Amino acid sequence: MTSQHWSRMARLWQLVGPPLRPAAQDRAAYHGALGQWRREHARPPRALILGVTPELHALDWPAGTSLLALDASPQMIEAVWPGPAGTALRGSWTAMPLAAASRDIVLCDGGFGMLSYPHGQAALLRELRRVLAPGGIFAARLFAPKGRTGNADEVFARLAAGDIASLDALKLQLWGALHGSPEQGVQPQCVVAHILAAVGGFDRLAADHGWSLEHTRSLELHRASQATYFLTDAAEMVRMAGGAQGGFECLDIVEPDYELGACCPIVTLRCGG
Ligand SMILES: C[S@@+](CC[C@H](N)C(=O)[O-])C[C@H]1O[C@@H](n2cnc3c(N)ncnc32)[C@H](O)[C@@H]1O
Repeated sequence: MTSQHWSRMARLWQLVGPPLRPAAQDRAAYHGALGQWRREHARPPRALILGVTPELHALDWPAGTSLLALDASPQMIEAVWPGPAGTALRGSWTAMPLAAASRDIVLCDGGFGMLSYPHGQAALLRELRRVLAPGGIFAARLFAPKGRTGNADEVFARLAAGDIASLDALKLQLWGALHGSPEQGVQPQCVVAHILAAVGGFDRLAADHGWSLEHTRSLELHRASQATYFLTDAAEMVRMAGGAQGGFECLDIVEPDYELGACCPIVTLRCGG
């Protein structure tokens, strides 16, 4: 994702909803990951959020938790992070401004697929291995709709039938429908082109489905974006993270049972010693 995209997105962030932001079941799964760590450690954790997701800030963190966020976009930090000043660091997830073994738990909601496959994602896993203390936990909700949402014609047939609840659900389904190979990924720009071709215009989309006009118009941002998402699924993430080289073991994969929950698994990994 380009930093320019996120600086524009910051103003519109409150319009985004589930499944692209965490719902109650996702928060429960993140609590489960936190619980895994707490069962083995008596002290409060040193936690890190990749991104500035307010729902992760609002988890039931134990008293005494040191909670940091890390995000490349100063505009997203300024507009979205609810934590105290100075607790959101500006920087890259693949070159974190953090000491080795300085964090116990790292959470990320929907960010893994923003890194290229396989190199960016492998670089993130290496960096996590460095900053996590032995036994530390990484839990991430993936957007992994490829192969689960049918082709674009099928998605638009569901849209026409009124069976797609929100713009965010439509986007997720089209990411799955239009995703190429793992290395090719899916371009939000291409998703918007398909929406425009199918429904005519953003205002029409909003009017036909009773969706927020401001939100559908935010597709303009994606239309201008050069970004590509690489929507790796849980099995592939676990494979990349595992083995002697990866150094993580998989503790849990949760597939929430809300609509499209199967496309949004939460993977919990533990860093070896
Ligand atoms: C966490 S992701 C996905 C959205 C997510 N569902 C949420 O609730 O925030 C969005 C954030 O990731 C940040 N980001 C994406 N790639 C990054 C990277 N390589 N390093 C640092 N921040 C990154 C963007 O600046 C943006 O604020």
